[in-house]
Amino acid sequence: MTHVIAIDGPSGSGKSSTSRGVASTLGYAYLDTGAMYRAMTWAMLQRGVDVHDAEAVASASAEVVLASGTDPQHPTIEADGVDVSEPIRGDEVTGAVSPVATVPEVRRQLVDLQRKLIAEAVGGIVVEGRDIGTVVAPDASLKVYLVADPVARARRRALELGVEDAEAMREALARRDAIDSNRKTAPLAQAEDAIVVDGTDMTLDEVIDRIVALAQR
Ligand code: DC
Repeated sequence: MTHVIAIDGPSGSGKSSTSRGVASTLGYAYLDTGAMYRAMTWAMLQRGVDVHDAEAVASASAEVVLASGTDPQHPTIEADGVDVSEPIRGDEVTGAVSPVATVPEVRRQLVDLQRKLIAEAVGGIVVEGRDIGTVVAPDASLKVYLVADPVARARRRALELGVEDAEAMREALARRDAIDSNRKTAPLAQAEDAIVVDGTDMTLDEVIDRIVALAQR
């Protein structure tokens, strides 16, 4: 059976670098489910769909074909055959993704696709997101809930994006967390059987080593 490692947690907790590092170390595949919600959002903006109109998003999203490449050294994401790995990190998509990710039809479509990719993975796969341990892969062999102090998270995101105002970044992250945690369908939540890893005072390599050790237990 495929060995699944679920890594959930809020934005900026270091999930992506950590998940890729864990997957590379273990020789596993890697799936960034946030990139899938972002790619769906890109496709909505591309079609001129109002992302706050849940019905419009629900019907337009059914036509979108997403493809995720699961090599941790070179993850890829396509929407309708277009490589969207760069535009999905831009402000436009980042500002519109939360409402798109609240639409139940979108979540159903993406969860189906995520389960298919997990089933196809040979050996093992590290899957990062918000609802992996709770909804997508409740039978995962290891569930990690990765957290970090909000100030540290904001500092990290500001550094990554070259933004100077870390306080504004902290507020933006807090707003996204609130939307992600309070939505009705599959909110950001810690699975009961998840192990909490707090990366605030750890280096990236230390966090990776901790999770690899948990996986090998
Ligand atoms: O991890 P990220 O910042 O790339 O996620 C982008 C958005 O997608 C974020 O608002 C939360 C949402 N998301 C989700 O609802 N469920 C997931 N499994 C992954 C991400």
